[in-house]
Amino acid sequence: MDKKIKLLAIDLDGTLLNSKGKISKEDKTVLKKFSEKGGIIVLASGRMTDCVSIYSNILEIDTPLIVYNGGMVRLRKKEKRKIIYHNPVPLKYSRIIIDYCLKNRFFLNFYYNDILYAQNDPSLKRYAEIYSKQTGAKYNFIEDLKIMKDKKIMLSEKDIPTAWYNILSDLPGQIPPPIHPATGKPVEAKDLLPIFPMGLIQQEVSTERWIEIPNEVLEVYKLWRPTPLVRAYELEKYLKTPARIYYKNESVSPAGSHKPNTAVAQAYYNKIEGVKRLTTETGAGQWGSALAFACNIFGLKCTIYMVKVSYHQKPFRRSLMHVWGADVYPSPTNLTNAGRKILEESPDSPGSLGIAISEAVEDAVTHDDTKYSLGSVLNHVLLHQTIVGLETKKQLEIAGEKPDVLIGCVGGGSNFGGFIIPFVPDKFAGKINTKFLAVEPTACPSLTKGLYLYDFGDTAGLTPFLKMYTLGHSFVPPKIHAGGLRYHGDAPILCYLVYKKVVDAVAYPQKAVFDAAVTFAKTEGILPAPETAHAIKAAIDEAIKCKETGEERCIVFNFSGHGFFDISAYDLYFEGKLEDYEYPEEEIKKTLEEIKKLPVNQK
Ligand SMILES: Cc1ncc(COP(=O)(O)O)c(C=O)c1O
Repeated sequence: MDKKIKLLAIDLDGTLLNSKGKISKEDKTVLKKFSEKGGIIVLASGRMTDCVSIYSNILEIDTPLIVYNGGMVRLRKKEKRKIIYHNPVPLKYSRIIIDYCLKNRFFLNFYYNDILYAQNDPSLKRYAEIYSKQTGAKYNFIEDLKIMKDKKIMLSEKDIPTAWYNILSDLPGQIPPPIHPATGKPVEAKDLLPIFPMGLIQQEVSTERWIEIPNEVLEVYKLWRPTPLVRAYELEKYLKTPARIYYKNESVSPAGSHKPNTAVAQAYYNKIEGVKRLTTETGAGQWGSALAFACNIFGLKCTIYMVKVSYHQKPFRRSLMHVWGADVYPSPTNLTNAGRKILEESPDSPGSLGIAISEAVEDAVTHDDTKYSLGSVLNHVLLHQTIVGLETKKQLEIAGEKPDVLIGCVGGGSNFGGFIIPFVPDKFAGKINTKFLAVEPTACPSLTKGLYLYDFGDTAGLTPFLKMYTLGHSFVPPKIHAGGLRYHGDAPILCYLVYKKVVDAVAYPQKAVFDAAVTFAKTEGILPAPETAHAIKAAIDEAIKCKETGEERCIVFNFSGHGFFDISAYDLYFEGKLEDYEYPEEEIKKTLEEIKKLPVNQK
């Protein structure tokens, strides 16, 4: 044997296999010797995985398989057949090929998700029998290959990403750091230790590209992950659009939204550092219920300051938090200095997210065994949410799609951030030309009308200054029903991407958003959270544009949560009692003038 040959890539049919589909004795002996001398044998075939893998068994090798004429390379027993290269024919081109073959009466093998399909055509079926005999391939005969369509694109548990993606490693510049209000200098780890565990502080500032997801967190993720990517065929039909609309369904988590993706991770890192109790604030209750769920799993106590008006308006979210063992208080309370001060001044205060944050932070810093947890805005929260985008990327690949538009609603920016961030490097590299579209309410239009300035993250001014598009921390947004979108600022990472014009933003009024929500519920069946309905409204508008231009664009949005606990808002919608709030221009102007004067914004 020529010593220079290190690797043999061998085709099967007509090469390694004889006319009986067998490897001859002589060939087996030669290949065995080659192997023993350190040579690598790789099988490369047009066949599907199973029909190649059997010959690896015969040759006693476990090298990667090259299948589908090079369209896919995957590991075998090692790492459970992990796909390491995949370049499928996009579905839209497949349809053209299918058309051509059917018209010319060619028999066609059609592989989708590693399953073989063929047209149920009696005059052509004998070719299937021949191929089946030769390769062992099992056919699924269907009536019309052209309408081959899966409603859901599912991944299996072994496909759950095992690391979160950190965009800080790949940004072309540096995002402006958080500033300590007392020193005017960037915040240091020790400043954050009274409120967060070290594990999360490290993630907040890390520039590592991939951060491994601990096994304990992955095990909990398996309760609902991977989440489905669903093709909204019925919505497409209703809109009569040539666009293909997909949604990533994050509402299937136990708490009903994307929020547990970070709640579980945060509870875990607190738990392993010996923290006994977590505090947080919640508005409409999605975040509170996610943290209650996560604390229950890791045996932590959980104290939730729920904005008083929601505490009374949304009793069932409160009940859900109780089921998972959390203590829920209507904020302002008389348990903290911040709460007592508000109650003294205004005993009937309905509360606000800002007040609730102040109470939760005060509770954490005044108890040694307690830390505080935030459900959005911060870098580590967006990091945990990248699991959403990473899965979506794999699912779109399976569907043979490159997204033209990726859409998500924005409160603090965590679901949208986590959804788009894994796609951002591909846009920087010119591999995709995707429009990233952030959607917010006109009643709280931080990205579309705010200024890119340093501001406090909370209303009371307890947090560091964050550089973000803000409406001013003292701005109290009108009481729209998308409580989770009533935040004066946005995640610094997201704001930086908007500032650099990588991300576009749009704002919608409440009634139009509920129209879209009801359209979605009537066509696709699931009742969206009012927050999520903002993304749906934008997806519908993009699809209508396609109808006008005839463009067959691929529109994908993040379905951040269901609206089963928001049913009273839907009642008001049907009673015609929902209000649209004007953009509060004068009020925002006033609060922004104050922010502009802060020394941190004078530099
Ligand atoms: C269902 C749902 N979607 C979206 C949001 C907005 O938050 P974020 O921008 O952090 O994803 C919330 C916040 O509570 C929510 O409950």
